[in-house]
Formats: sequence, structure tokens, C-alpha cells
Amino acid sequence: MRNPQFEPIHLTVKETYRQVALNQESCCSISDCCGSMLYDAGALQGIPVDAVQASRGCGNPQAIAALMPGEVVLDLGSGGGIDVFMAAQQVGETGYVYGVDMTEEMIALARRNAELIGATNVAFRHGMIEQLPIDSHHVDVIISNCVIKLTPDKSAAFAEAFRVLRTGGRLAISDVVIDGVLHDLPVSEAEIRASLNWAGCVAGALTTTELVRLLSDVGFVDVRVEMQSHYTVGDLYGQMPATLANLDAATVRELVGRFGSANIHARKL
Ligand SMILES: C[S@@+](CC[C@H](N)C(=O)[O-])C[C@H]1O[C@@H](n2cnc3c(N)ncnc32)[C@H](O)[C@@H]1O
Repeated sequence: MRNPQFEPIHLTVKETYRQVALNQESCCSISDCCGSMLYDAGALQGIPVDAVQASRGCGNPQAIAALMPGEVVLDLGSGGGIDVFMAAQQVGETGYVYGVDMTEEMIALARRNAELIGATNVAFRHGMIEQLPIDSHHVDVIISNCVIKLTPDKSAAFAEAFRVLRTGGRLAISDVVIDGVLHDLPVSEAEIRASLNWAGCVAGALTTTELVRLLSDVGFVDVRVEMQSHYTVGDLYGQMPATLANLDAATVRELVGRFGSANIHARKL
């Protein structure tokens, strides 16, 4: 269910991705997690250039989801559709892939991309991941690429993911997370988050412990968070230059090791 108190954050995030969809900025031209380098050239064969250009992921969720022909997949926050199209190739004509995104311009871009390649086993639906426009018990696999960190209501998003999954379904998502805790640093977690734009990579990231707890709370089992990479000093300076300017080099090094990309797995029994 959507909570009106989160509306300002949703509007900030939406405006950022509206600009990405409209302007087709090249990767890294906005403060984000830039996705196209996450996929090797072979995997991008047959994927529309505009979907690659609009890509803003931080992982490769369909690569970790072990998709099988015939499966029904849902991509939370599908953007220009890159992961939907890649998943569609894996599930084949007997499978189906839905993408849900709250930004109208992203949905329009993804639908144009689908038309361009004549994809018949995909559908893009406009909506919120906190209130999915998808029937209950309809989906085998949920994927998502760098989107959970953008929602201020992660419990609602996870509860919806659980609702739409079939019994035995699985979740395989990539996201930015905090590896460890932030409360033992000279700068407080609240200060770090307040200095950041919600549409960027870090402001809304969960700790790995919080992720496991929130997913378990809504009913998921076998929850696993696997760190894939940690931010470099340069990555972090790109995200929070003002905060880092006030810290000594040792603290900056400490902070850098605590942010990174993770693969997150869970199952619905
Ligand atoms: C970082 S981009 C990732 C897009 C795509 N997954 C990719 O890898 O290129 C985030 C996308 O999620 C969408 N989004 C963010 N928060 C959302 C929410 N609460 N509900 C639905 N879509 C959301 C944005 O509109 C944007 O298209």
C-alpha cells in the first residue's frame, strides 16, 4: 500500500528518471550507478540501444536468477527495459516478463524499445513497486536492478513482491547496500543520508542486516545477501563530496568499505 508521507521522495526520484528517459543521457552523466558496463557485449546482443543508454543498474539480476524457459518474471523498476529484454530471451516464447515502473516516460521508452525489437513476451506496466499492478500468486521470479534503494517504503515493496510471487517462487535482485553499520563513525548515519540525494546510489541503501530482517518479516525464507563489489574512494566522492571533505583519510577509507553492490536472494515457500 502506498503511504502519502513518502510522496516527496517519490517525486524527487521520478523527476530524476524522467530526465534520464527524456534526454537519454550517456551513462554516468547523472549521479547514479551506471549500468551498461555491467553486461558483457555478447549479452547485449538484440537489446535496443536506447534501453542500454537508459540503463542505470548496479548489477545483473537476470544473470543471478537462473531463469528457465517458460517462467513468468517481474522486474521491479524496469526503466528502459534492459533487464526485461534480457530475461525475455532466457524465458523464451513460453515465458513472460513484466516490467513495472512509476515513471511514465520510462514506461513509454520501454514500450517503444519492445516495439522496435518486436518482443511478444513482455509487458510494461505503469505503477509503484509498493502497490504492484500485478495479480497475486502470478510470478515465478522477481528481479530488480538498483531500485529497492530508491523506495522510502521498503517493507511495502517487499510485501508486494511476496504477494505476487507464486508458492515456490524466488527473488533475485541486485542493489546497493551498506556492508556493516554506520553508527561507529565520526559522522552520523543521519548526517550521511541527509547529505545525499535520494535519487543517487547511497541515501536509501539498507544495511545487509536490515535487508535480511525486512525480507524475513514479510515471509521470505533462505534470504542471502552476497556482496559483489565495494565502492572505490572515487565512487564515494562522487556521491558525498561535502560529507567526505570534513573527514580524515582513515575515516574515508573506513566509510568506503561499507558501501557496495550486492546480490540478494530469497524464496517464498
Ligand atoms: C536506477 S533506475 C534502474 C532501471 C533499470 N532497472 C536498469 O537497470 O536500468 C531506477 C528505476 O526505478 C524506477 N523507480 C524508482 N522507484 C520506484 C518505485 N517506488 N516504484 C516504481 N518504480 C520506481 C525509476 O523510475 C527508474 O526507472
